[in-house]
Amino acid sequence: MSTTAASVVDDLAGKTPNNLDALWMPFTANRQFKANPRLLVSAEGMHYRSVDGREILDGTAGLWCVNAGHGRKEIIEAVQRQAERMDYAPSFQMAHPLQFELAARLTAMLPGDLDHAFFTNSGSESVDTALKIALAYHQANGEPGRTRLIGRERGYHGVGFGGISVGGIGNNRRQFRNQLPEVDHLPHTHSLEHNAFSRGQPEWGAHLADSLTSLIQLHGADSIAAVIVEPMAGSTGVLIPPAGYLRRLRNICDQNGILLIFDEVITGFGRLGASFACELFDIVPDIVTLAKGLTNASVPMGGVVVRKGIHDALMTGPEHLIELFHGYTYSGHPLACAAGLAALDVYRQDELFDRAADLAPYWEEAVHSLRDRKHVIDLRNLGLVAGIELEPRPGKPTTRAYDAFVRCFEEGLLVRTTGDVIALSPPLIVERSHIDRMFGVIGDTLDQVA
Ligand SMILES: Cc1ncc(COP(=O)(O)O)c(C=O)c1O
Repeated sequence: MSTTAASVVDDLAGKTPNNLDALWMPFTANRQFKANPRLLVSAEGMHYRSVDGREILDGTAGLWCVNAGHGRKEIIEAVQRQAERMDYAPSFQMAHPLQFELAARLTAMLPGDLDHAFFTNSGSESVDTALKIALAYHQANGEPGRTRLIGRERGYHGVGFGGISVGGIGNNRRQFRNQLPEVDHLPHTHSLEHNAFSRGQPEWGAHLADSLTSLIQLHGADSIAAVIVEPMAGSTGVLIPPAGYLRRLRNICDQNGILLIFDEVITGFGRLGASFACELFDIVPDIVTLAKGLTNASVPMGGVVVRKGIHDALMTGPEHLIELFHGYTYSGHPLACAAGLAALDVYRQDELFDRAADLAPYWEEAVHSLRDRKHVIDLRNLGLVAGIELEPRPGKPTTRAYDAFVRCFEEGLLVRTTGDVIALSPPLIVERSHIDRMFGVIGDTLDQVA
């Protein structure tokens, strides 16, 4: 009997493949992983199942993305139905109905005049798209000299050349030396000295936004196109914005004609207990980048939403000419749009963003219950996110957190580590009993890890 791909899917659901060698894994210590692989083969609700049949509690919503929990039937059904109806439609000079519907529903969720959505396939593509739109806007607006882009230390904006240039993670930049020119960075906002063990937004640090004024003095306001920040920096270890910091950035940008981009790839779709961080902080950025929760991670998709004035500035000139020379073969892919529409339905019907807000105080208590555990030097939380910072082992940074991650996995809990920080971001369907279990496992693990 010939083997079909469908039967391979079934067949491989219960075993580790013989050949692990051909695959080059992303952001992974490949040789270490392949010596002791960790494979997941199925998922439902709050849990994964590992290849050896163990139930693993998902403390990270996959990679900050499965906000409605795993295996949502509504999403599966929508994707299946669209796959049968039409697998793909060209995205240039052609379209299909779902992408218009998703754009309309997505922009309706965002505040102010954030009215126009451009679709991509990932957070990295969203970031590079947003940076390009910022440059194109200033050119169309009669200020072609505004070409400088400002990011922030410890910012993560994906792995495109634009994203690593404005990003502020040394390791992500070191191997790729020729990045975008004309980029500068704000200082990050993390301070153990002033803010350790803050609950929610730390009090200290709003003044760090004023560094933008220094960069403006250095480079000239009329040379700066945009500032991009994560409203809450996730990937570099859960850095919560100090109270008042983002408002200050917004004001300085306004005073100087600089676009403010919020990278909401993690913070979008309920993670912080509001639909988006811009809603939570009551700030309307000029551009918002999205991905992850947009489809509940079931099909890859990203998006960039821009304010009306930015879009309209580019909708000029002869109507037969393309306004923005940018796009992807899979922009607004039909399967991704079907998944996105279904995900937005699920979020609304299950009121998951409110649920996250309601659970946040319980979550906060659970996070800070770890205060006296071994190795803990900081705990921070916002919405359904937590950062547990560990004292690094002398001369061996990251190894203690990595050991804790492996031990938690062996105990049936998936956490994420970055540097010496354990980051948690469960699906928004998480129950109190799951929260108790997560922090129970982590507390015990910290006591056992050397
Ligand atoms: C804030 C932020 N921007 C961009 C990205 C990149 O997204 P992707 O991995 O989908 O390219 C991420 C991924 O974690 C992210 O957290």
